[in-house]
Amino acid sequence: MKLRERAEEIFAWGMKQRTENFPDANNSAWENHSRAAAEIAEKIAKHAGMDAERAYAGGLLHDIGRYLGPHTGMNHIPDGYDLLKEKGMPEEVARVCLTHSFNPQETVEALELENKEREQFVKNYVLNTKYDDYDKLFQLVDFMSGSHGVTTIERRFCSVIYRHDIPDPRSTLIKIYEIKKYFDKKIGGDIYELFHDKIAETPFQGIPGGGALVEKKGERK
Ligand SMILES: [Fe+2]
Repeated sequence: MKLRERAEEIFAWGMKQRTENFPDANNSAWENHSRAAAEIAEKIAKHAGMDAERAYAGGLLHDIGRYLGPHTGMNHIPDGYDLLKEKGMPEEVARVCLTHSFNPQETVEALELENKEREQFVKNYVLNTKYDDYDKLFQLVDFMSGSHGVTTIERRFCSVIYRHDIPDPRSTLIKIYEIKKYFDKKIGGDIYELFHDKIAETPFQGIPGGGALVEKKGERK
């Protein structure tokens, strides 16, 4: 079975667990975000001469650890990794669960999990990993995937820091733009141009009262 199909199977399994156990959670936001990440990763990979299957699988599964519910917080990182290993996913895909959230890498030092052994495992893993183009790709796509689909870093970042405390927002933002520039160069253009229509279609609902300039006509509430 192809990597992409295996990823779809695992995602469908995770979605089933989550909707059965948490029927009242905003499960479509999780699905939209994951599907947007898969779509963006695949397209960038194709333009950048990378493995599109691996990119699609990693994008779709980077937050799979949230199958355990909406309130698992940073536990979704090791939970996702463990699940993917258990389901036989190769290390190169499973690692996305651990690496996608830490850029710069040192931001992992601020990670606090109830289970200290797991916390140390994530820290050791991230600090001892040399980020490759796939790790960078998933860090970028995570910041271009909103709860309503494909979006820009500007909007996603704004929505993230509105909702969560993140350890070093300025360094994170600088790093994400470095990665964007890196991939802009790789594809010989602006990444955003690959998703121009999709971005224009995605409503901005991350923040109550947030900008609605590019929402489709009639969608503004
Ligand atoms: Fe994500």
